[in-house]
Amino acid sequence: MKNEIFLDNSSTTKPYDDVIDFMSQISKEVYGNPSSLHTKGIAAEREIKKARQLIADSLRAQSNEIIFTSGGTESNNLAIRGYLNPNPRKGKHIITTTVEHPSVMEVYQSLAGKGYTVDYLNVDNDGIISIDELKEKINENTALISIILVNNEVGSIQPIEQLVRIKNQINKNTVIHVDAVQGYGKMEIHPKALGIDLMSLSSHKIHGPKGIGAIFMNQSLKMSPIIYGGGQESMLRSGTENVPGICGFGKAVEISFANINNNHENVRKLKEIFVNSIMENIEKFKIISPINASPYILNVAFEGIKAEVLLHHLEEKSIFVSTGSACSSRKNIHSRVLRSMGVTSKYIEGAIRFSFSHFNTEEQIIKTVEALVDILPRIRKKPKLTN
Ligand SMILES: Cc1ncc(COP(=O)(O)O)c(C=O)c1O
Repeated sequence: MKNEIFLDNSSTTKPYDDVIDFMSQISKEVYGNPSSLHTKGIAAEREIKKARQLIADSLRAQSNEIIFTSGGTESNNLAIRGYLNPNPRKGKHIITTTVEHPSVMEVYQSLAGKGYTVDYLNVDNDGIISIDELKEKINENTALISIILVNNEVGSIQPIEQLVRIKNQINKNTVIHVDAVQGYGKMEIHPKALGIDLMSLSSHKIHGPKGIGAIFMNQSLKMSPIIYGGGQESMLRSGTENVPGICGFGKAVEISFANINNNHENVRKLKEIFVNSIMENIEKFKIISPINASPYILNVAFEGIKAEVLLHHLEEKSIFVSTGSACSSRKNIHSRVLRSMGVTSKYIEGAIRFSFSHFNTEEQIIKTVEALVDILPRIRKKPKLTN
């Protein structure tokens, strides 16, 4: 444990000790069902209220604009289906991008055959959408646009402000859904000021527990649930609340936001040291993440290797990384995101995602580069000898 170097923080993060302690305390002492009318229920409801307020404050939103879900995947599903289902007259055209997380992409693809026309915005070599293409695609029939804020594979940050400005010029009624799972808790995002109507969040990316997330929802939207039952979470997400998870999420938000600028600066420095050290010590590589990407993510392709082979060699040295994104890396397919950015197969095959946390240290970064210097020459394909 002590010598582990965890550089896979975009797939998940280690929970803060304070989060674990708080969840343990809540599980032991506040185990009532929040719907129960007795004091045990009221105590649980009170803890949920506190967590909801913490999350609302972190977004400069109201507590009734926050709905708890089981994580980013459910939040994305609820945002899209929960808005489109009760609003059939708002238009049958929907827009997303080619670089979304599968929990958005797959929902859009499933809607394509069901009466919706779907447009996918392309991205440039930096993974960024084109505002001109957006202008061409958006029309008076566009009901919804879903866009990822920080890309989970490369860290590109989409120009949300510009997107909202353009959509307001063309169709004020188009609803904007932002998947902020990789940005939340790492940069300030104020959905109301930005004109975002729906925003997906996840706890386990910010040192909170897994299996809990939330959605910010503009109160003027008509929404319907995708999970039916007892009517919890303002009738939008039935099921007995995950009280320890919600409280752990609230605690992680409290800690993360108290240190948001420091953490960002520390991680930015780590990434800078990492990039400089790679440039000085390693040859034949390509940095795929754009220069102005989130500091928390660095995608680098090493020539002449298979990413999975490198991943396992690093693992032998207790260094943990990802190939492409964790969600698609078990499927043996080339990254859709990297292909959309025009990265050639030669590089995609050797692409590794290093993703950071403020728990990482400079020493860990140096050790990782030393490991790369040791491993790469051993696993690189040798050029064929000719007579
Ligand atoms: C951008 C993005 N959206 C959504 C998700 C899904 O979140 P969760 O794991 O909480 O379901 C992830 C997780 O990797 C992600 O990176």
